Amino acid sequence: EIIEAGGQVLLPGFVDLHTHLREPGREDTETIDTGSAAAALGGYTAVFAMANTDPVADNAVIVDHVWRRGQEVGLVDVHPVGAVTVGLKGEKLAELGTMANSQARVKVFSDDGLCVADPLLMRRALEYSTALDVVIAQHAEEPRLTVGAQAHEGERAARLGYTGWPAAAEESIVARDCLLALHANARLHVCHVSTSGTADVLRWAKDRGTKVSAEVTPHHLLLTDERLATYDPVNKVNPPLRTESDAEKLRAALAEGVIDCVATDHAPHAVQDKDTEWSAARPGMLGLQTALSIVAETMVRTGLLDWRGVARVMSERPAEIGNLADQGRPIEAGEPANLTLVDPDAEWTVRGAELASIAANTPYEGMRLPGVVTATLLRGRLTARDGKVC
Ligand code: NCD
Ligand code: ZN
Ligand code: ZN
Ligand code: ZN
Repeated sequence: EIIEAGGQVLLPGFVDLHTHLREPGREDTETIDTGSAAAALGGYTAVFAMANTDPVADNAVIVDHVWRRGQEVGLVDVHPVGAVTVGLKGEKLAELGTMANSQARVKVFSDDGLCVADPLLMRRALEYSTALDVVIAQHAEEPRLTVGAQAHEGERAARLGYTGWPAAAEESIVARDCLLALHANARLHVCHVSTSGTADVLRWAKDRGTKVSAEVTPHHLLLTDERLATYDPVNKVNPPLRTESDAEKLRAALAEGVIDCVATDHAPHAVQDKDTEWSAARPGMLGLQTALSIVAETMVRTGLLDWRGVARVMSERPAEIGNLADQGRPIEAGEPANLTLVDPDAEWTVRGAELASIAANTPYEGMRLPGVVTATLLRGRLTARDGKVC
């Protein structure tokens, strides 16, 4: 088949280091099937499926199930993330080695949604990870500083009566874990950076030679706590939407490389878990099908990144961080390619109900956005074409 691509941009297939696919446990909100479709339509050829499923992905049986299910669906490589600890908020290290050597060959271990608050546990995980050559991803929240927290601590949250979630909850644990990673000579990946202070901590740690990488979500690049005024829990997310000055510094840090890449933190939720009062609503928002457009809006239209830079933050760096040898790079002669074709000038209007995910919790409902994914190829085979899964 010949793909007419005049005026379009050809990029290496996108890699998402941070996707919640909800299988097993919450198949009413997303499955590996529907999440893979959303990923392919969003231009992704590989996603890392977060470990906070039910049951938690803390053993080889579950990670292998997730890996095999992804291969059966065949729309995107689904790399399971293993939990650092046994169970949610576990106090015991999971068998990282067993998962790293299982069929799924787990490359990333995360506490996402599972907080490694104990510094000794984190130190052991980091030391263990160097021997296995895997990366520990940190959810970047000191849970003891966010008890009852509901929104970015500041004037807006105070006015609305929401308990504040301080920037220091993120910055203090990122600083701690950067120091522990340097001590253990381990690789640390910081999930969903949301404050300008965290960017400063990362710059400081990188300057000292810490093997730390970091991601920022599309929503933290674009949205701010001004959204609180709508009272709509679609805007409730971990970490919370911060200030305009934070978002501005995050965009600059991404352009500069202090923040390495964009990750969606795609977090599907059921209607009954979102259409409720703010305090009861689950945190998280959809991201796979809107990520490219938000990056185009915040980074390309503003001149902060060119399309070469988009390839770096959406594909090359995440593939390197996640240890994927077959993603995020130009193809060699005769090798089946992972590619994404984007029409940079086309625009589209976001409709949650039309997205491939079972859940519809997009904060971009009704927004007109630039950048349309026109084709995605996984190992030379079309997985999405003109808004339809192949
Ligand atoms: C995540 C989820 O829904 O699993 N939610 C979110 O707001 N990012 C978990 C988490 O990271 O807290
Ligand atoms: Zn998280
Ligand atoms: Zn956590
Ligand atoms: Zn997450």
